[in-house]
Amino acid sequence: MVALSPLLLGLVLFQGIRIKAAPIAPVDSEHLSGVGRFWHVSDLHLDPTYHVTDVRTDVCSSSKGFPALNPGIFGDYLCDSPYQLILSAFQHMKTLAPQPEFMIWTGDSPPHVPAGKLSTDLVIQVMRNMTQTIREYFPDIRVYPALGNHDYWPQDQLPTSTNEIYQAAARLWEPWLKPEALDTLREGGFYSQLVQPKLRLVGLNTILYYSPNKVTMNMSDPAGQFQWLQNILETSAQNMEKVIVIGHVPVGYLPYVKNTTAIREVYHERLVKIFRDYCAIISGHFYGHTHRDSIMVLLDELGMPVNSMFVTPAVTPIKSFSEPYSNNPAFRMYLYDRQDYGMLDIWQYYMNLTEANEEKRADWKLEYKMTEAFRLKDIQPHSLFKLARSFEIDQSIEFQKYFQHYMVSYDDGIICDGECKLAQHVSKTTALTNFNLVAALPG
Ligand SMILES: *[C@@H]1O[C@H](CO)[C@@H](O)[C@H](O)[C@H]1NC(C)=O
Ligand SMILES: *[C@@H]1O[C@H](CO)[C@@H](O)[C@H](O)[C@H]1NC(C)=O
Ligand SMILES: *[C@@H]1O[C@H](CO)[C@@H](O)[C@H](O)[C@H]1NC(C)=O
Ligand SMILES: *[C@@H]1O[C@H](CO)[C@@H](O)[C@H](O)[C@H]1NC(C)=O
Ligand SMILES: [Zn+2]
Ligand SMILES: [Zn+2]
Repeated sequence: MVALSPLLLGLVLFQGIRIKAAPIAPVDSEHLSGVGRFWHVSDLHLDPTYHVTDVRTDVCSSSKGFPALNPGIFGDYLCDSPYQLILSAFQHMKTLAPQPEFMIWTGDSPPHVPAGKLSTDLVIQVMRNMTQTIREYFPDIRVYPALGNHDYWPQDQLPTSTNEIYQAAARLWEPWLKPEALDTLREGGFYSQLVQPKLRLVGLNTILYYSPNKVTMNMSDPAGQFQWLQNILETSAQNMEKVIVIGHVPVGYLPYVKNTTAIREVYHERLVKIFRDYCAIISGHFYGHTHRDSIMVLLDELGMPVNSMFVTPAVTPIKSFSEPYSNNPAFRMYLYDRQDYGMLDIWQYYMNLTEANEEKRADWKLEYKMTEAFRLKDIQPHSLFKLARSFEIDQSIEFQKYFQHYMVSYDDGIICDGECKLAQHVSKTTALTNFNLVAALPG
């Protein structure tokens, strides 16, 4: 069995001890002009069948026969997104100033419905719909997409060579991506492109590594993506570029099950090794898929924090019938330093779905700014690591805040303790285990 690597987990933050009198770096004051911004949206999961009706079981196919809880025009916690919800998110994004320079969009457009209700054509139709909708709202910025496990039929089974869906994606995303990027997208579902003169984006197809993908089982390098990634990062290092890595399924441990990675362990080890080798040029990692807001810190072989990894919450509010909580609809903006591409902050926006439905008005609000919420200097690996360590304390107030954000303020009455907290990998034991594993890995 491969030793699991050393991702420190779901993080963490500060313990409100008020030690520092020094003001937090003023992201939005005099340094404003040196601050770049980009959007991150993920897991739109459009459900075209969504409609409000008194027959609760008929509201949406994505509730899979369960009665919707409290359906309104913007959706329901047992359903995927109505088109109205998605439009309202984009509409609100457009009103914010200053507008970010680009957008990352980490996949999963189709609804959570049984395979029999979808087809290759339907999946492509939904991807086209979402692509056109985004272009309509944001005609002037480039969007960098990544394929999700639902962006295929049957879901999760993304292949290692060209197929109808990779080809459709390459056609749909032609306005945003350059010919070289479209070439690898068409073949393997991944690409890389310069975003700014010294900033490269790497869009990975992590579904090739996703545990439920049977197509890639036993392959050592599905679609040659590892070799490709290594080559890209090596070239970037030589060209003194900084890199942002995006993908749908995240590396690291899942935040709701103990000691479990979303991608197969053997691939996880390989990916983490590559990321560690090139951590010096990687500005950050940006994923989706879990639908919840979480943070991870990649540690090097010595247990030092080397990269920040962010999982953005979903636009869809869906949960399964038996889950105790969900997430409110969300999108976010990242702030970064234009000089060195260091990550400065997250501005997280959300819609209180219950309230929006009651008022029949889409009231998107700022949920939190990461540096303010946790009194951080920035969101770079050292800052997040320190925060993560503070979460380890029993009944850490900061961890409770982190967990409220994890659910996108779904319900502040839900406390995460015991097994829940263990699964978040912030307990002392888990953290120590991770450290041990890190230290035990061959250099
Ligand atoms: C996307 O789908 C929605 C819901 O089915 C439909 O109302 C809308 O017109 C479609 N938009 C585009 C751009 O295809
Ligand atoms: C993968 O390898 C295992 C063990 O060698 C074998 O039993 C299994 O059939 C293989 N699966 C595929 C899809 O090739
Ligand atoms: C975590 O899982 C791995 C592989 O499944 C296993 O080898 C390891 O012992 C587990 N560690 C803990 C602390 O449960
Ligand atoms: C969301 O709105 C509901 C209904 O107005 C309210 O009870 C709840 O407290 C709100 N949640 C948050 C986090 O503001
Ligand atoms: Zn999803
Ligand atoms: Zn997914």
